[in-house]
Amino acid sequence: MTATIIDGKAFASALCKAVAQSVAEVKASHGFTPGLAVVLVGEDPASQVYVASKGRETIAAGMNSFEHKLPAETSEAELLALVAGLNADEAVDGILVQLPLPKHIDTNRVLAAISPDKDVDGLHVVNAGRLATGQPSLVPCTPWGSMLLLKATLGKMTGLEAVVVGRSNLVGRPLAQLLLAADCTVTIAHSRTRDLASVCRRADILVAAVGRPHMIRGEWVKPGATVIDVGINRIPAPERGEGKTRLVGDVDFAEAKDVAGHITPVPGGVGPMTIASLLANTLTAATRRRGLPEPTDFAEACAELMRAG
Ligand code: GUN
Repeated sequence: MTATIIDGKAFASALCKAVAQSVAEVKASHGFTPGLAVVLVGEDPASQVYVASKGRETIAAGMNSFEHKLPAETSEAELLALVAGLNADEAVDGILVQLPLPKHIDTNRVLAAISPDKDVDGLHVVNAGRLATGQPSLVPCTPWGSMLLLKATLGKMTGLEAVVVGRSNLVGRPLAQLLLAADCTVTIAHSRTRDLASVCRRADILVAAVGRPHMIRGEWVKPGATVIDVGINRIPAPERGEGKTRLVGDVDFAEAKDVAGHITPVPGGVGPMTIASLLANTLTAATRRRGLPEPTDFAEACAELMRAG
């Protein structure tokens, strides 16, 4: 059997389109333009690439993008002062501080300083708490994007066994909460889990979010399962030439695709969904902050756009 590939790129492009339509409606009926502020401290090359694409996509969706690039030596106090300014800025609906931050800055203190209502990364403890207690919240982008792919693939998930490998605040924990809210039976597995292979083999939905290349083997996958690979690992690729690299996931794709029912590739699976979800979160934050009705049900809007081609 060969799994159906879940085309995250096509789905993300449908989601961006749905967000852009919603932004246009909001502008026309309420006369404001949602704005996203992205803060980058230091010169991490991968982060620079992400931040540049976030800015480009934000503008493409019809929203304002405010980029703040600070030197690596920026003090925590200076960063906190910038965040306070963005909290107070009426033109800013969403604030994202790109992680990782330099070591001399306390990440938790910075995340806690962001207004929860502008926290489009969903990393503030208030949003994590709202999500864990089933209240409307801003949800971290990668988990939210992964759920959209799952909903489009599986429809209702009631009663399914979901195993999330990885317990990070950015992905594993919030994704487990979302799966629970979708009535799955959820297991969070991690580096200390006993007999990880057999835990994974129970899963109708298997999510890999550990950051270890090719860790999940084909024989760990239950036949027909839906596999969501959140990993983005850069590994040497001497076959492409000296010093070249390539991106691979946490799942051994070549093995798993012969067992799974549906699987996300890397690249082109969950990755493209992250920025699309950020745009959706920014619009949601903008409307909630003004007491306006929630934007469209994006899961439904995307599914429709995908069906329409
Ligand atoms: N670095 C890698 N992924 C993310 C993300 O989703 N949000 C932020 N703020 N930083 C990241």
